[in-house]
Amino acid sequence: MKTIIEPFRIKSVEYVKTTTAKEREKIIKNAFYNPFLIHAEDVLIDLLTDSGTSAMSSKQWAAIMDGDESYAGSKSYFRFDSAVKKIFGFKHCIPVHQGRAAERILFTFLLSDIDKEGRFVNSGKGKSIPSNNHFDTTRANIEFNGAEAVDFVIEEGKHPEVIHPFKGNMDTKKLREFIESVGVKNIPVCMLTITNNTGGGQPVSMENIREVSKICKEYKIPFFLDACRFAENAYFIKMREKGYENKSIMEICNEMFSYADGCTMSAKKDAFANIGGFLSMNNDEWYQNCKNLLIITEGYETYGGLAGRDLEAIAQGLEEIVDESYLHYRIHSSKYLGDKLEANGIPFIKPVGGHALYVDAKGFLPNIPVDKFPGQALVVELYKRGGIRGVEIGSVMFGKYDAKGKLIPADMELVRLAIPRRVYTQSHIDFVAEVLIEISKNKDKIRGVKIVEEPKFLRHFTAKFDLV
Ligand code: F0G
Repeated sequence: MKTIIEPFRIKSVEYVKTTTAKEREKIIKNAFYNPFLIHAEDVLIDLLTDSGTSAMSSKQWAAIMDGDESYAGSKSYFRFDSAVKKIFGFKHCIPVHQGRAAERILFTFLLSDIDKEGRFVNSGKGKSIPSNNHFDTTRANIEFNGAEAVDFVIEEGKHPEVIHPFKGNMDTKKLREFIESVGVKNIPVCMLTITNNTGGGQPVSMENIREVSKICKEYKIPFFLDACRFAENAYFIKMREKGYENKSIMEICNEMFSYADGCTMSAKKDAFANIGGFLSMNNDEWYQNCKNLLIITEGYETYGGLAGRDLEAIAQGLEEIVDESYLHYRIHSSKYLGDKLEANGIPFIKPVGGHALYVDAKGFLPNIPVDKFPGQALVVELYKRGGIRGVEIGSVMFGKYDAKGKLIPADMELVRLAIPRRVYTQSHIDFVAEVLIEISKNKDKIRGVKIVEEPKFLRHFTAKFDLV
């Protein structure tokens, strides 16, 4: 059969509110043309993020009822620990409240010296941590600790129209040159983000993971994976990489993680959980130190930053995410949106990523100059026309100013439409495509935006805009 169906049926529904175009005009104006400032209730289809927005299964809800809230040694922790180890295989695992907490603990430890009293003294200055592309929170946690986060995604990964099966791969030649130039002692860890969110949700091949691991071993640099969307990455390997066609998703995951020394994970993505994450590793000494930080800042080692019930939801979610029929439906439903946009000449990062489609706003709205933020203008239009919420990933998020206050734009002006897991149906996606096609018919009339108020850091969350 050609039709790919959701491998589940719907047991519980959540109604969404419809608004009129006139109401939305007022709502977006009152939110200063920033989608983060809109009340979620006023959004019809929320594609702001795939993080923490998954629909949980009946088995996850049942597991939540069964959560053991004991402070120490909860049975939910042991279920969580064994579910994590089955897939990831590392010796140690500590639960945290979400991905960035794992990053904070790991980088606080790696970018510190430990004094005689066991206190952490920051020593991040002069250190660098390479990756294909660091996600914003990863970068922020590295930079907050005084070190530099450097990106070595392959050249193909920087061009929306260029087709490559693994646009998330790292340029290993650049990695090697970098290690030689800054020296091994200044690189406490090397990372790879699977899939590469910042670069368009693009996968990393097994060959590339193996190659990066080999280089790290050669130089004795520990190697960690940012594993948020590991199952989607594994499915892409099965689909696109020779030799993996007949392997199970579990076998592919086991192999991916076998090349690494540890991982950071946000369970809000490929574990179907609304909250949670973990930090895993093999090194005993690292584990002891990270565990100390965990206990001081997150919670005791058998719950971290979570309730027992959250650990249950993650454990059950991890069992469900490696199901191939789910991943087949998931990856093809993202592609379904891409195929519709492609047929209507709407430019986006190709091929479509696993968890999201990234519209190329610069290509879509060429009449809006980058200093009038075409991505933000498209975000505003999507909401006005269809009550759809996406997020700008361009010069609003990454733009900087030069000494004269002139905008230094980002490399790309994108609008990310992230698809929550198991939440929206085909007709929702048809609707999203229809709204974009309608917008494209009158796109010459769309106005850019200007920033009227902005904070110093992470301005996209709270900046205020006006139409120009
Ligand atoms: N790493 C990657 C690749 C991510 O995409 C995220 C979060 C994190 C780490 C941090 O995890 O949110 O649990 O603290 N990405 C979300 C997004 C927020 O919308 O892409 P967290």
